[in-house]
Amino acid sequence: MRTARARHYLMCRPTHFDVVYSINPWMDPTKPVDTPLAIAQWERLREVYLNLGHTVDTIDPVPGLPDMVFAANGATVIAGRALVARFRDAERRAEGPAYHDWLRDNGFPELRTAAFTNEGEGDYLPVGDWLLAGTGFRSDPRSHDEAQEFFGRPVIGLQLVDPDYYHLDTALTALDENTVAYHPGAFSPGSRAVLERLFPDAVRASAADAAAFGLNATSDGHNVVLPQNATGLADQLRDRGFNPIGVDLSELLKAGGSVKCCTLELRRAH
Ligand code: ARG
Repeated sequence: MRTARARHYLMCRPTHFDVVYSINPWMDPTKPVDTPLAIAQWERLREVYLNLGHTVDTIDPVPGLPDMVFAANGATVIAGRALVARFRDAERRAEGPAYHDWLRDNGFPELRTAAFTNEGEGDYLPVGDWLLAGTGFRSDPRSHDEAQEFFGRPVIGLQLVDPDYYHLDTALTALDENTVAYHPGAFSPGSRAVLERLFPDAVRASAADAAAFGLNATSDGHNVVLPQNATGLADQLRDRGFNPIGVDLSELLKAGGSVKCCTLELRRAH
């Protein structure tokens, strides 16, 4: 028996989406990007959320910030407290203040901009009482201590080792308060052992489903929205009582992002 809980999400329309620089292996600036198609795919994702009964707020896209559609990277918000991102790359740095101002103006007064490089929910995923935290490519390991202090939650640091899975949310997804799905190959041996210890019943995704960005998913506890090409993972989820909903975000994948990257969860409680 799985129960859905309505979520509050923040998204950013990909009005200015493009691939004009490369800061992860998926990004090839010589490949054409169809921005109108990206917008249509993003609108569909938003519609899926609204049909599931979730609240979706939007932040105004800023010209010259083609990756701003990846709202997950803007902050981590738990129990009404927001730790705003500090991006590794100069190309994305101005997104931090944009998310900061949106949160300040929309009822999140308890907010702080991270002192160390921290790419928000790209690398920080709350699961039950824990805050899982990725490092290796983007977020500075020192940001893990900062997040633990700020949120007062035990941070579990996880080492990412495969550049294709450069953010935690490309390799692991939180399905409910105590269930995760992940791609073991994205983690160091020690971090794999940590995940096995904490989540012995986790869903282990195949390399093919990970490559389809299947782990870049969102869950409300029952419905799991994920890239439609991750069909094996969808079957595994269905076997576990979840309701997988596939969506096509092929244009956004050209920047190394998909469902979860486009979705920042605003947690007022929990
Ligand atoms: N092009 C973006 C970057 O490399 C993609 C970000 C994807 N976001 C995520 N939450 N994984 O920064």
